[in-house]
Amino acid sequence: MRIVLLGAPGAGKGTQCKRVVARYGLLHLSSGDILRQERDAGSELGRKAEIYMDSGLLVPDEIIVKMMAGAISKAPASGFVLDGFPRTVNQAAELDKSLASVGRRIDAVLNLKVDDRVITERMGGRRSCPRCGAVYHVENLKPKVEGICDNDGTELVQRPDDSPDVVANRLKAYHAQTEPVVGYYRDNNTVYDVDANKDVDEVSALIFGKLDAHFVVRDA
Ligand code: AP5
Repeated sequence: MRIVLLGAPGAGKGTQCKRVVARYGLLHLSSGDILRQERDAGSELGRKAEIYMDSGLLVPDEIIVKMMAGAISKAPASGFVLDGFPRTVNQAAELDKSLASVGRRIDAVLNLKVDDRVITERMGGRRSCPRCGAVYHVENLKPKVEGICDNDGTELVQRPDDSPDVVANRLKAYHAQTEPVVGYYRDNNTVYDVDANKDVDEVSALIFGKLDAHFVVRDA
C-alpha cells in the first residue's frame, strides 16, 4: 500500500496516519516530523528549513524532494503513508517520477476536508510529546494526566508554529500551493474525500472504510 494523506495544517493528518499505520502495518513518513528532527539535531538541512517553518512558509521543493526520496527508499515492502508530502504540484510530479523509476505508483489518496474555523481551534489546543511525537488536544484528545504524555510521562509542549499569525500564513500557503495537489491527483489517481470535521474516531472509521474497500477491490 502506498498512500498519500492530504489536508490543511491541523486537519488531523498526523493523528489519523498513526492509526492507519497501526492497522495496515505501514511506515509513517511525515515531512514535518522529519524536518523537526533535522532542526532539533542542528543539521544544515534543519537550519535551512527552520527559517521557512517558523514563518509558516513552505520549505523549497528541492530540499523536500531530496529528503523524502531518501526516506521513501527505506520503506518496507508493505508500503508507506505520506503525511504532509507532497505539498506542491511539483513535489507530486517529482514523487511520481521517482516511484515510476522503480515500477511503482501511489495507490490511493485520502483528502481530509476541514473548515478553516475548525482548524484554527484545533491548532490552538494542540499539545505534542517532544520525545515520542504523540499528539493530544486540550479539549478533544486529552492525555490521562493534564500536560503529560500517556506513553512516556514527558511534559507536553506547544509547537512554535501554532501561534495565530503563523497558523494564518500556513493556511494561506495551503490554499495557494497545496490545494492544487488534490486536482493533480484527481487527474491521475483514486482520491477519497473524507469529512474530517467529525470527531477523531468517526474520521478513522471513514478512512478505514475507504481503504478496506479500495484494497480488497484492487486485490480481488
Ligand atoms: P507539518 O508538520 O506537516 O504541519 P501541517 O501540515 O501544517 O500539519 P500539522 O502537523 O500542523 O497538522 P495535522 O494535519 O498533522 O494535524 P494533527 O493530527 O496534529 O509541517 C510543518 C512545516 O514544515 C510547514 O509549515 C512547512 O514549513 C514545512 N513542511 C512540511 N512538509 C513540507 C513539504 N512537503 N513541503 C514544504 N514544506 C514542508 O491534529 C491537530 C490537532 O487537532 C491535534 O491537537 C489533534 O489532537 C486535534 N485533532 C485531530 N483530529 C481531530 C478531530 N477529528 N477532531 C478534533 N480534534 C482533532
